[in-house]
Amino acid sequence: MEQKIFISTDRGGTKSLPKQPSTHGPMRKLYIESYGCQMNFSDSEIVASIMAGQGFIFTDHYHEADLILINTCAIRDKAEQTIRNRLLVFNQQKLKQPDLIVGILGCMAERLKTQLLEEEKVVDLVAGPDAYRDLPRLISQVDQGYKAVNTFLSKEETYADIAPIRLHSSGVTAFISIMRGCNNMCSFCIVPFTRGRERSRDPYSIVQEAKQLFEAGYKEVTLLGQNVDSYRWHPSEAATATSPDHLSSKNVIHFAQLLAMVAEIDPTLRVRFSTSHPKDMTDEVLYTMKAYDNICKHIHLPVQSGNSRILKLMNRTYDRAWYVERIHAIRNILGPSCAISSDMIAGFCSETEAEHADTLSLMDYVQYDFSFMFYYSERPGTLAARKYPDDVPEAVKKRRLSEIIAKQREHALMHNQKSINQVYQVLIEKYSKKSEAFFQGRTSQNKIVVFPKEGHKIGDYVDVHITSCNAATLFGNTLSI
Ligand code: SAH
Ligand code: SF4
Ligand code: F3S
Repeated sequence: MEQKIFISTDRGGTKSLPKQPSTHGPMRKLYIESYGCQMNFSDSEIVASIMAGQGFIFTDHYHEADLILINTCAIRDKAEQTIRNRLLVFNQQKLKQPDLIVGILGCMAERLKTQLLEEEKVVDLVAGPDAYRDLPRLISQVDQGYKAVNTFLSKEETYADIAPIRLHSSGVTAFISIMRGCNNMCSFCIVPFTRGRERSRDPYSIVQEAKQLFEAGYKEVTLLGQNVDSYRWHPSEAATATSPDHLSSKNVIHFAQLLAMVAEIDPTLRVRFSTSHPKDMTDEVLYTMKAYDNICKHIHLPVQSGNSRILKLMNRTYDRAWYVERIHAIRNILGPSCAISSDMIAGFCSETEAEHADTLSLMDYVQYDFSFMFYYSERPGTLAARKYPDDVPEAVKKRRLSEIIAKQREHALMHNQKSINQVYQVLIEKYSKKSEAFFQGRTSQNKIVVFPKEGHKIGDYVDVHITSCNAATLFGNTLSI
């Protein structure tokens, strides 16, 4: 009889998967919950694959689980507080079920190392982002009554050979990690400490994974890295090179070439990528985007601040003028229809009102399609925490952030209003949140579009005539079946 297994993350819903062979006696149930960036969600799919290989059955109810794994984020203090609250809930469950194992994965695990296990005693197992292959051994250590920790950061690990189990996928879009770690030392950022040195994954394994996804019916892949523009792969330097001869030339493969290789798989496979770094984004990448219709016309180019002194303190290694020049390059090469989005931090150390106003004026100049906006949260051990006092009062940070958010909403609404009466090609991804009579998908520019289902199905490309909008969503009708 065909059995189903279920995996859950905090994105909600469930996905049935084929039964995996058990190698270790009675099947145990695993519940996975994920937080943080797309890379973390992508990592949970690798963890799911490793655990399925160990014969674990997946559940979407933590109270049914024998093992709970929580894949965590450490980017801001608030992210860690959310996870601490979840650990309280899981530890309540442990009171009812003493043999329950609770494990912490990801960036907060890496940052706090043994603290949650030895001092706070709220977990049984700790595995950092480069230690997932070790999970089977760590679990067996816990089974034998020991606490288990592996927070070793690797210079080579890319999990290139592990086929991720796609969690909560509707079978249309998928993430592919193309690199790990980060070599930039933005002074506010914990990522270099939690994810280690930057390393690029073998391009052949990336293209293979994208091809397999396409063959399985997927229509969109998003290539992920903290700084995709610094993707660099040289066969002779790679410790685990598995490329066939046509890739094993002396030529280094940069991000622009990788993009083209993935785009070449099929013109109906959409390719997205994130995140671009203003200091590294080359014209070559922009020309590659222009050359392939299936590379989506959207660039996430986080600015963080519009003021050059603050950018210097942030160690972003570009200034306002450099950033503006990169925006001009996007507009010149790709035209006005390429969407641009950003991340912004309000109230970084010593930021004055005038410097905050520079962020607002840069926003007016660029007119971002959308942004992720935060107020500064000091992270222990970072350059900023060591060198600069966190001296902007919280109320001021929050007020500045609300000004940034209000401006972004204006710009998003303005862009969306310009879309009214236009026709966009939309890839249908899922049912709309509000009604099963409506589908939701995205344009090449990453705009969410909601429209009546009619005779279409998930995974179809449809042309949608936009009739109305709000700041977050476009609404319309399909032109043809
Ligand atoms: N690699 C990406 C960013 C990854 S972190 C880049 O360089 O753009 C995602 C976003 O979180 C950052 O762009 C930044 O805006 C925000 N962020 C990172 N550290 C933060 C901190 N200490 N406080 C507030 N926001 C932070
Ligand atoms: Fe953090 Fe900067 Fe690296 Fe982005 S580029 S992950 S902000 S250190
Ligand atoms: Fe968070 Fe780690 Fe991603 S700190 S944002 S989960 S790289």
